Amino acid sequence: MIQEINRLRGEIESALNAATNGELLEQFRLQHLVQKGTLRGLMDRLREVPKDEKPSVGKALNELRTFAESEFKRLQETFGAGKKQTRTTSDLSLPGRALPYGTAHPVHQTMEAMIDIFVRMGFDVARGPEVESDYYNFEALNFAADHPARDMQDTFFMKGFDKAVLRTHTTPVQIRLMKEMAPPIRAIMPGRVYRNEAISARALAEFHQLDGIYVDKGVSFAELKGTMLAFAKQMYGNDIKYRFRASYFPFTEPSAEMDITCFLCKGEGCRVCKYSGWLEIVGCGMVHPNVLTECGIDPEIYSGYAFGFGIERVTMLRTGIDDIRLLYENDVRMLKQF
Ligand code: DAH
Repeated sequence: MIQEINRLRGEIESALNAATNGELLEQFRLQHLVQKGTLRGLMDRLREVPKDEKPSVGKALNELRTFAESEFKRLQETFGAGKKQTRTTSDLSLPGRALPYGTAHPVHQTMEAMIDIFVRMGFDVARGPEVESDYYNFEALNFAADHPARDMQDTFFMKGFDKAVLRTHTTPVQIRLMKEMAPPIRAIMPGRVYRNEAISARALAEFHQLDGIYVDKGVSFAELKGTMLAFAKQMYGNDIKYRFRASYFPFTEPSAEMDITCFLCKGEGCRVCKYSGWLEIVGCGMVHPNVLTECGIDPEIYSGYAFGFGIERVTMLRTGIDDIRLLYENDVRMLKQF
């Protein structure tokens, strides 16, 4: 029965489209809307429909009838009393319908803006796999097998694969680069990373990072600071204040974190910066000699700095969005603001 209703709907729709004058419209009425018409015919057969299907079939039929009658009325009014008047199927003088168009997602926009800044400073862009081996994600980065630092990052392991993980950071791409290339190496590594985290306003199980590395003869911490500052000024404006705090990562020594003045309160202290006036934007440090050695680069000859940004964090700073989940709900009302 539903099939028949659908077939009749098709028939009615094309008859309505073809009804370009009063005469054709009258033919439409005689065929479909009168006592002996097609719609009434189907209505009468509603009795044969099994009881449990009746409500849905009845509803579909009613909808079709309402549609046919209201379209009929509308066209009747269009043709008016003058039965000879004709209607063209479309009014060519009307302006075209604008199609809604999208924009790049705010996280993607941030990533592109960051890549632009680093590319202008001479960095290449490198990418690596999201399913990583334990070796690249941890071991080569100087995380010992039983090192508690492994717990700093809650890892998704791959069922059935002994040594495969979803990468917890983009830092393993540094290892891949250093093993493949001889210094000088200067590259950034944007991409998606995964952590087994409880989802909250501040954390997701899937997010983005952008790592960077520069290895050459005589690279110093001063250059790391200069590069981070040049980046931060281009990204957040010339008037930001910043500070470096000592930190710990197994793959850098010394390690640091860079904070900038909170974009919202300008250092006064507010909810976003947890009343400290500062926001952490990047982890960084000098590439650990063990890491260079593991990659076949002699730490007596070469040195390097490395850094890693969380892209969602930077996006939140840039847009003022204060709940990370908003970035992944795909709510157009939010997305179209950026
Ligand atoms: N991989 C670190 C993380 O996910 C971030 C990081 C810190 C990356 C220091 C680096 C670095 O390259 O030098 O928390």
